[in-house]
Amino acid sequence: MSTDLGPETLTAAVIDSFKNTPDDRLKEILESLTRNLHTFVREVSPSIEEWEAAIDFLTATGQKCDDVRQEFILLSDVLGVSMMVETINDAETPDATDSTVLGPFHMVESPARALGDNVSPESEGDICVVRGKIVSVSGEPIPGAQIDVWQANTKGFYDVQQPGIQSIGNGRGLLHADENGEFHFRSVVPAYYPIPTDGPVGSLLNATARHPYRPAHIHFIVTAPGFKELTTHIFVGGSEYIDSDAVFAVKESLVKPFTVNSDPAAATGFGVGSPFVEGVIDIVLHPEAQPLSTTTEKTKEIVR
Ligand code: BEZ
Ligand code: FE
Repeated sequence: MSTDLGPETLTAAVIDSFKNTPDDRLKEILESLTRNLHTFVREVSPSIEEWEAAIDFLTATGQKCDDVRQEFILLSDVLGVSMMVETINDAETPDATDSTVLGPFHMVESPARALGDNVSPESEGDICVVRGKIVSVSGEPIPGAQIDVWQANTKGFYDVQQPGIQSIGNGRGLLHADENGEFHFRSVVPAYYPIPTDGPVGSLLNATARHPYRPAHIHFIVTAPGFKELTTHIFVGGSEYIDSDAVFAVKESLVKPFTVNSDPAAATGFGVGSPFVEGVIDIVLHPEAQPLSTTTEKTKEIVR
């Protein structure tokens, strides 16, 4: 280990300290982290007080986390890191439905619901039917695909944010597509809402004169054996903040019109009054990457 390290030599010394890391990927990540973090610090040239403020901010971010609050995901979201990771990984499956951020509120298991159930039985607002079809990239339906949905109520709160006001599970549902890959559920038309601003991330938005709003949306995680899991949203076409989502997560392909359906037969079929609002999203899943063959695994072991 050298002594008297300074801006010119410190980065190389820290990178060198990782040279015996057995895991190649971990080594690569730590080397890059060191290089980029040191470049950032040299560029910003923080005072000791600014460095302490940064440590305090990260400490407060961690302290704000609990079983129902994930301030670090929120920080990643508002800095565009979550969407950067999504976009990089999405590029591997260009034929599938676009993914978007998970967000911090997928914290509880969604209650099992039958097709057609109301996933927001405690929420007041305009009733809507959300429906669609789950298919493979070649257009084949995927019967039995699992669809996990969650949304805020019309006042902009998730169940976990309102203990004593909403029961856990309101605004959530775990459904399975039918034999044609089709699904539908009832809910209330979601509203735009602010991300939580009562923590360090809120202070950051405030200090930078940024608004905290997300356009109206419903979250989806779609899974099926043999297919890559998809985390996405359906955005309500025409919602405010479509063009300025606080977490940069809108993709044009996921914005769908929520239109009025005046067909009384359709209303009867879905068990809602006529007319009703309807949002439609068809979801395309990409096949899962093939697991490495035993031979390939063995070759990798030898190379290691
Ligand atoms: C959400 O849509 O639930 C969400 C996403 C990112 C940050 C905050 C909330
Ligand atoms: Fe959300």
